[in-house]
Parts: sequence; structure tokens; C-alpha cells
Amino acid sequence: METLRIGGVDCRSLADEFGTPLYVYDEAKIMKQADDAVLNFSSDKFDTEVVYASKAFSSVALFKLLAAQGIGFDVVSGGELYCAMKAGVGMDKVYFHGNNKSDQEIEMALDAGIGYFVIDNVMECNRLVGLAEKRKRSTKVLLRINPGISAHTHEYIMTSKPDSKFGIYIENKEHIYNVIDTLKESPYIRLAGFHSHIGSQIIDAESFEKALGTMIEFLAEMKRSKGLDNLELSIGGGFGIKYVAEDDPVPLGQMCANLVRYAEEALKKSGVTISKLITEPGRAMVGEAGYTIYTIGDMKKSGDKNYIFVDGGMSDNIRHALYDAEYTCVLPEKFSKESQISYCIAGKNCESGDILIADIMLPEAETGDLLTIYSTGAYGYSMASNYNRLGRPAVVFARDGKARLIIKRETYEDQYRLEV
Ligand code: LLP
Repeated sequence: METLRIGGVDCRSLADEFGTPLYVYDEAKIMKQADDAVLNFSSDKFDTEVVYASKAFSSVALFKLLAAQGIGFDVVSGGELYCAMKAGVGMDKVYFHGNNKSDQEIEMALDAGIGYFVIDNVMECNRLVGLAEKRKRSTKVLLRINPGISAHTHEYIMTSKPDSKFGIYIENKEHIYNVIDTLKESPYIRLAGFHSHIGSQIIDAESFEKALGTMIEFLAEMKRSKGLDNLELSIGGGFGIKYVAEDDPVPLGQMCANLVRYAEEALKKSGVTISKLITEPGRAMVGEAGYTIYTIGDMKKSGDKNYIFVDGGMSDNIRHALYDAEYTCVLPEKFSKESQISYCIAGKNCESGDILIADIMLPEAETGDLLTIYSTGAYGYSMASNYNRLGRPAVVFARDGKARLIIKRETYEDQYRLEV
């Protein structure tokens, strides 16, 4: 029977063995993205580093897989750092982001000996300097600059508007110089370079080139005004992936190669050098490799709408409710049947907005059928919640016809173990 296989394993076997809802990753697809990024993000003019933005999906198994490919890790909390520590990844390749790191998180990261803090604002800089002195720990810093580039994406995931909560706006020289001067005085902290990130799920390459061009001009200005040269430059992540047929993103490897070439040329023109170029893809590394398998429960017709209710919902994928995100799905066991009915795929959470796909043509569905949504590998599990006390689904890696459990399904007891 023609069916959907993920990593060589058919959806029914996965559902029977691990239950539903279930997140499944095609491990080979993740490896391919990692390989493509590392191979193509390289230059003979400067060092390069690919860093995985782990907010997209963090797990010990994934970290181990990516670390083996030479990839670094962007973490934004003590929790994500803890995951990196548990996975035993090289701490020198860890970048700690975030606009409000607590003292406790900063101390944890200093003690762990991470490679870089990405400083977001002046207050954080002062706190970091004080804590590093107190603990006598050295570290490197990138300063996050908001280059003010507006890219076409959902407002909630745009990060580069002048009034964004992230980074220091590029025109705010007072704050930028304040950080540079403070770090010059610190015996423990070295300003290694600058960072920018303009948003997420950005399909057009132009926005990235604009941001890169702006940051290189900024480096030239820092060379003139502050004598800084040969620093490191991180250009963030945000590369779009394919969710529905109309999406046509530039493949990650090609995007990486284009950005490096673009940087080489822009640097040559502006007369500055960098020691390292860094990129931080999250979504593009794991998004398309991930699938969610659900079981169809009840169904109903309401007005013109044909509802399919699945055994998960916004608690395992909040992206449609939050960003109007679109997805594609199939009935894996009715793969070759004609799609003739328009369905609305809704979850079982107690909220009208608990919709996964607003409108999709499928073959006639029945209770008990499996339904698999594509491209749920990024910001699915990592944004999952226990709304309505639904347990988070299990996560499986599938490869060469074999599946292995990497995160167990959350039980009622797991949820109640925190109650006192
Ligand atoms: N670097 C920084 C500093 C970031 O803030 C982010 C994402 C990334 C890298 C990775 O971006 P990516 O390559 O994954 O697009 N929850 C939203 C996405 C929020 C992204 C936040 N920052 C969603 O589900 O679409």
C-alpha cells in the first residue's frame, strides 16, 4: 500500500509503537541540513561557524547529533544551556542570547565556561562585567545590534523594528559606545564582535543581504570611530522553510553560500576585515525534518465546515493560533486516494482558536485514520504546553527504517510530580 514513510518507517507502525500525537523527525534530513550548512558556510577569507538556534527544538539527542557535525549552540535560557550541558557539547561553542538573562543564569553560564554571551542591552553588560569579576571568570561577548531592517514576516516574529525589545538600535550610538567602553575596562570580558538577527521565517534573500550590508557598514564605522577591526560578526538566523506548496524558500546550503560570498564582497568594498562570520539557523535546521502524527477522533459538520478533530492541538502546535501559520497534512494511509473534501483540522483543546489547519482538501476521512502534518519540526515541541493538562507528546527519531524514542510522552504523573 502506498503510504507516507518517515525515515523509512510508515506512520501506522510509528503510531502503533509510540502512540499519538507523536512528533517524528527524519534524522537523515536533519543531518543533511547540518551538512549543507557547514559545507556551504565557509570562506578562505575568514573563519566561519554554524550555530544551531536551539529554541526551535532542543533535546539531548539532537544536540549530540549536531555537535558531531561541528555545529555550535545558541541558547536563550538556563534551561537550554542545561540541555547543552547534559548533551556534553563543547561549551566554547555555546552562545548565550536573551534580553533579560538573570544573574543566576549568567553565573551558571560563566561557571560552565561558555564561549560567548550575546549582550542585549547596557544594563546586562554592566551586570555581566560585575558578575565575571566576582567569579573571576573570563568570557567573550558579542553585542546585539538592531540594524532596523524590516523583513516580510509575521509581526510577532519580526525583531528588527527600531522599537524592538531586542538589541541596541543601530542609531543609538550612546548605548553602543557605552558598552564598548565598559568592556574595554574589563579584565575578564572581551568584546569579540557584533550580532544581528532580523526576524524569522524570512523567505526573501534580499532582507538578509540588506542586514549584512548594514552590519558591515556599521563595522566600518566602528573601525573609524573606535579603532575596532577584525572582529567577529554573527548574522543571526531566520531562514524560511516550506510549509505549504506556495512557499519557495532558498535551500539552506545555498543561502549560506550566498551570504558568505555577499559578505566577502561587501567587506572588500568597505575596507574592513572580520575574523569570523557566524550564522544561527534554527527553523531551517529541523523544521522540514519534523512531522506530527495524530489520530482522528470525532468529526462534525458545522455550517459549511467539515471538522476533523485530532487527539492533540494548540498544546502541541500553537503556531496557527499564534501566527496564522499554515501547514499541509495528509492521511498517510489514504495516500493515493483523491482529495475531494475540504476539511478544517481542529484540536481537542478548550479554545475556539485551537485550529491546526483552517482549510485543506483531503480524501474522505474516518475516525481512527491517522493524519500527519508536515514541517512541524521547529517551534512545535519547544512551544508546546500543558494547556488542559494534555501531556506533551513523545518525540521519535526515524532513520533507515528504524525508529528510536528520544523524548518520552508526558504522563499525568509527570505533570503532578511538581505539585506539593
Ligand atoms: N538567532 C536569534 C537571535 C533569534 O532570536 C532566533 C529566533 C534565531 C536565531 C533563529 O531563528 P530561525 O532560524 O529559527 O528562524 N516562535 C516563532 C519563531 C521565533 C523565533 C525567535 N528567534 C515561530 O514559531 O515562528
